Amino acid sequence: MHSLIAKRRDGVEHTQDELRFLAQTAAKGSAPDYQLAAWLMAAYLRELGSLETAWLTMAMAETGERVDLAGLPKPWVDKHSTGGVGDKTTLVVLPILAACGLTVVKMSGRGLGITGGTVDKLESVPGFRMDLTPAEMKAQAEEIGIAITGQTANLAPADGALYALRDATATVESTPLIVSSILSKKIAGGAEMVSLDVKCGSGAFMKTFQQANHLAGWLKGIGEQCGLKVHVVITDMDQPLGSAVGNALEVREAIQVMTEKRVPPTVARFRALCLELCAQTLLFSGKLASKAGARTVAEDALMKGKALAKAKEWFAAQGANPALFDEPDTHLPSAPIKRQVAANLGGHLAQIAADAVGRAVIDLGGGRRNKGDRIDPAVGVEVHAVVGDEVTSGQALFTIHASSDEAALRAEKSLQEAVKYSEDEVTPHTLVLGTR
Ligand code: URA
Repeated sequence: MHSLIAKRRDGVEHTQDELRFLAQTAAKGSAPDYQLAAWLMAAYLRELGSLETAWLTMAMAETGERVDLAGLPKPWVDKHSTGGVGDKTTLVVLPILAACGLTVVKMSGRGLGITGGTVDKLESVPGFRMDLTPAEMKAQAEEIGIAITGQTANLAPADGALYALRDATATVESTPLIVSSILSKKIAGGAEMVSLDVKCGSGAFMKTFQQANHLAGWLKGIGEQCGLKVHVVITDMDQPLGSAVGNALEVREAIQVMTEKRVPPTVARFRALCLELCAQTLLFSGKLASKAGARTVAEDALMKGKALAKAKEWFAAQGANPALFDEPDTHLPSAPIKRQVAANLGGHLAQIAADAVGRAVIDLGGGRRNKGDRIDPAVGVEVHAVVGDEVTSGQALFTIHASSDEAALRAEKSLQEAVKYSEDEVTPHTLVLGTR
């Protein structure tokens, strides 16, 4: 390890064998953490080149089990988001895509920090199993076209070890390290085609379009060097996505999108993103030949109840009671305290800061500060307005779902600070900022 650290420190390119050694060392724990941490800091300051990143990605994928999905009905796709506040698109996108004839197989992570994780959202559903084995995943995907599971410790274990050290050493925000981390898990999970949503804004890793676009280009380029077919959409994450932020609340909103045609503007914005991601994925996977046709097919699946039927099949297959879709309030946990937060001024909403809303939800107990923290699935925040809305003083902007009055009061203060008003009309960011 000593010579690898020195080479990286001096900006000398690594060989493929050296990166294999590094990945194996991280996976086996055969070097002290301080040496791996020193290499990570050197790699943060002297970024890996694209060939080195592709080598590291493959080397990390090879450190654990490789899921073999060969034989599944094609095309099969994996959908991934880099994570954002209120981002529950997976819960709606997967059933729409499966209802449109794609096979969707996905491994998801837990939330850390302000960006939530699909595992946590689905674990708020009683009985929902997020521990399917690779064989169970494959059998379920073959039968109903859809399967999701949490990541096992044996999937790209080098990433698990390196990510924990990155988190502790302020080296998460390095494009080559993020790219190798995300893609190594996709490759180990058996993906061939990956549809990626790179989030951009205050509620995401990537705060500016430049950063998000850079990451998107790298994900596509390195993915292709590693033999994956990759499509990337860059989408706005400056205000919360949809209305709900918090695990069970987000499941309720996903159900609302699949069961109701008329939804409030906050929810309509979330639904619009789901349909756009589906249309782009149907086109990219080769399932449909035109964007307009793909859009119509996706809308049809959602609006005519086919996605809902698929979602019921999916939830039942993974152990949940599909009656959840008819009576979500009976089946999902709910918080004892509900408190409305009203606008303290009138005017046009210039900002509903996604990061501040995400932090308020963590403070309520709905997210993690540290890996391994327990979360309360019932708590969270409902957002009732979108940026650009004209509001009057006293109008309800948020509903807090809390486990105690004190927690609700703290959240109210943070949420008031998340909002900015303007006397002038405000044009919100468009939802889709770019594609790669
Ligand atoms: N998600 C990952 O899986 N890895 C990163 O490094 C960042 C986001």
